[in-house]
Amino acid sequence: MQRLAQKLRRAGTRIGLVPTMGYLHAGHLSLAREARRRVGKSGVVVVSIYVNPTQFAPTEDLDKYPRDLQRDLRMCRAEGVDVVFTPSDAEMYPARAKTQGQRGLAARAASGHLRSTGFSTYVVEENLGRVMEGAARPAHFRGVTTVVAKLFNLVLPDVSVFGQKDFQQAAIIQRMALDLNFPVHIIVAPTHREKDGLAMSSRNKYLDAEQRAQAVILFHALRAAQAAVAKKPVPAARLKKDLKEFMTAAPLARLDYVEFFDPATLQPISMVTRGTNMALAVFLGKTRLIDNVRL
Ligand code: PAF
Repeated sequence: MQRLAQKLRRAGTRIGLVPTMGYLHAGHLSLAREARRRVGKSGVVVVSIYVNPTQFAPTEDLDKYPRDLQRDLRMCRAEGVDVVFTPSDAEMYPARAKTQGQRGLAARAASGHLRSTGFSTYVVEENLGRVMEGAARPAHFRGVTTVVAKLFNLVLPDVSVFGQKDFQQAAIIQRMALDLNFPVHIIVAPTHREKDGLAMSSRNKYLDAEQRAQAVILFHALRAAQAAVAKKPVPAARLKKDLKEFMTAAPLARLDYVEFFDPATLQPISMVTRGTNMALAVFLGKTRLIDNVRL
């Protein structure tokens, strides 16, 4: 992948990357379309498909995360994606060689032969990742930033497109690109929704019919908050209390968190006005869904 990317860049071809974990849906395809719009017809759109183990906690759904590569490839072909990059775990995170001692490592590094001796470097954003998803899933963003940094180095994109549904992820990746001087323009594209408003997510597949029907409560909660602050500011504590009550309309839904925050710092704010950002995470059975909006 890296050799191909280097060749493309030497030829002056622009590269647009859409990182995904596969099991694609219309939301992912809209990101690929945005990448195409940015790099033009002569550019190359790369979709990476990799279910990244380092962003899942041991208790999470890594093993059962939905996968269907053939279907994904068909969708990418129909969308006019030029390259689908599907690295393996062994390529992304080579297992640490058991007999490799520190002296051996140092010697091999010095001789320029430090290949396949395992993986031990992670990228950690230290500020934006502490709240919301970062508080609920402590190792998650370390895995995300690490794999996205690797993808940037492998695909060498001019632009990379992320979905707004994962607002905090996009903010952290923007921060990482800035802090670590990745020469890539990060685009955040709007959330793609089902007809009833549920944000598209590969994890929606886990929902049974009843859970799916009640999952729309996330979208309704965002709308309810939007209506509540349309005319005048409301204290965050009161709005949170009202939303908890509002969500009892969906008895299968369990609120994990709802937060009102500053979009630049992601820090909670106490008085919610029009233009404040809101995010929430909700469990339906074991499935955890997230959504967010600028009110
Ligand atoms: O949003 C996702 O699907 C993943 O977090 C990403 C960005 C592909 C990294 O694994």
